[in-house]
Order: sequence, then structure tokens, then C-alpha cells
Amino acid sequence: MALSDFLEQLDQLASSAEKAFQEAGDASALDEVRVNFLGAKNGQLKSVQKEMGAVGKEDRPTAGKKFNECKTRIEVAFQAAKDRLGDPAAAKSSDPGFDMTLPGHEFHLGRLHPITQTIEELKDIMGRLGFSVADGPEIEDERHNFEALNIPREHPARDPLDNFYLGTAQKAQLGHREENPLLLRSQTSTVQIRVMESTPPPIRIISLGRVYRPDTADATHYPMFHQMEGLLIDRQVTMADLKSVLRLFARSYLGADVNIRFRPSFFPFTEPSVEADFSWNDGWIEFGGAGMVDPNVLRAVGYDPEEVTGFAFGLGVERLCMRRHGITDIREFYKNDVRFLEQF
Ligand code: DAH
Repeated sequence: MALSDFLEQLDQLASSAEKAFQEAGDASALDEVRVNFLGAKNGQLKSVQKEMGAVGKEDRPTAGKKFNECKTRIEVAFQAAKDRLGDPAAAKSSDPGFDMTLPGHEFHLGRLHPITQTIEELKDIMGRLGFSVADGPEIEDERHNFEALNIPREHPARDPLDNFYLGTAQKAQLGHREENPLLLRSQTSTVQIRVMESTPPPIRIISLGRVYRPDTADATHYPMFHQMEGLLIDRQVTMADLKSVLRLFARSYLGADVNIRFRPSFFPFTEPSVEADFSWNDGWIEFGGAGMVDPNVLRAVGYDPEEVTGFAFGLGVERLCMRRHGITDIREFYKNDVRFLEQF
């Protein structure tokens, strides 16, 4: 075939394809035109390509170049028609482009630490029994941590090895220059003193917060833990009131069938003093100390022990939470392991 004929044929093919693509009125017409010109088996472009073999060898490069131009013109026309009519594949389906069956994005909500949750619940229970919440500092002086609580200077509880006393440099940082030593409070009983110092009786408070003792961490000890302190001061308060309040508390927090038992004990700030046990399954578990506020403590804050009496108690918050949830190692609370924390 003469080169000029071949080139002429290509021009005509491209022109008629351009016209046909322009005239296609909808997606199915467009598809027909596409098959007619660009179809891989019997499309016109394909047939013309086959005829290229009939062109003389020396004319092949010119013919090939023209063929490519023609092919480009047809493809451009097809693309333009597609843009004008919309993609037939997309037009055919009602797919909104959104697959509702795909798993969604999971947002991890933070949650309150189990000890914080326990504290909130304890406040709630004791609030219903008429106790309001009082607060005190974690860095304390010896008066509030020991002296006013009837713990004299020679008492072993004041041993520097059993307490976190602040060093000179730490006190200087706090702008504290006095001789009065400071320590991280070892018990929340400090708050009893602070409240009684600033409030006349009657008093009915709880205080929840951190306390610090240099214990080696093991399954039941940690150098920082939380206590709930309770204090009730009024006229004619008795041990029976103490027992009722602790029993009501135990039943609210642990279950209606929980019982409570007192064992004689000793604390410098209560007289008489008891250890309070709560029944659990078939046994008894020690939950903390309690007793009638010692007259020396009442005097230390300026109350008259002939006028008012009261009871106090101190319970371990971690221990309560561990019992409720079957946690066997206190260290779990403070590892910051999300796999543990997210269970609450
Ligand atoms: N402060 C005591 C402790 O940390 C607990 C305690 C016992 C508190 C008897 C009290 C109490 O208020 O009356 O071991």
C-alpha cells in the first residue's frame, strides 16, 4: 500500500472517531463507540494497525509515527467524551463510594484510674451518710503528722527510716527555713487535726488522699498509697456509732451480706482503738484502724473532752479496690500498663 493512502486512512479514521465520540449521547453509546474504534480485538484502530505491514519497509517509521498520532487523537476524544458523560463504570453502579461494612476508626477514650474511680465512689457512699470531704497537704509538719495526734517525740512511728523526711535543700526550695521538720505525710489522720483546728464541733468529715512510707514494693506494699480518713465529733458519740457507720459503709461498697468485726488494737490517737475487719467469703479481712478519738487529741486542738467525743477511722483505698475487683498485686495500679487500666 502506498504510504500516502495509509496516512490518508489514518486521518480519516481519527476524524470519524472524534466525530463519533462527540456525538455519543449517553454512557452506553459511548461504550459502543469505544468498542468500535478502540476495541482490542476488532476495533478499527487495531485493523489499521494490521495493515501497517503492507506499507513499504522504508516508509514504516513515518507510518508508525502517524499511527501513534492517530491513536492519541482517538484516545483524547474518548477521554473528553468520558469526562462529559461521566465514567460509565461509575454511572452504572449506585455505589456511593463508601463501604459501610469496613471496620470504622476506633477512638480510644481515656478513662479514670481505678483508684480515682474508687475514691469517687467512697466519697459518694460517705456523702450519703452525711460526711463531707476535707483536704490537707501532702507535705506536712510534725505537729500535724505526729504531735497533735498524740504521737510523742520518742515514738517509733517517727523514726526517720519509717518516714520520708524532707532534706534541707528540699525545704529551702519550698522557702521553708524553720526548725520544724517536714515530711511526706504517712497517714491522712493529719487532716483530722487540720479540720478540728479550724472548725468548732460538730464535725463529720472524710479525707481521701495519698500517703507515703518507705516500704519496699511487693504485692501488698507500695511506698505511696491512698487512705480514707473519717472523723465524727459531736456530743455523746459512742463505739456503737462507729460500728454502724463502718458497717453501712462496708455493705454499700462490698455487698449487703458483708459483716464487720472489731479487734482490740492500739493507736496513739484513739482510746479505745480497734482493727476493723470485714467478712469476705469464708474469712475476715483487715481493712484499717479505728477508735474513739483520744482526749489528748481533742485537747491538742482546743476542744473540751468533757463536752464532745468522737470516733475516727483510717482505711486503705487500694485494699478496698483490690478486694472488690479481685486484684492481687498493688503494683499493678502504678505500672501505667493500659492493658490493666482499661479493664476498669
Ligand atoms: N492512721 C492509721 C494508719 O495509717 C489508721 C487509723 C487508725 C486512722 C485509727 C484513724 C484511726 O483515724 O482512728 O495506720
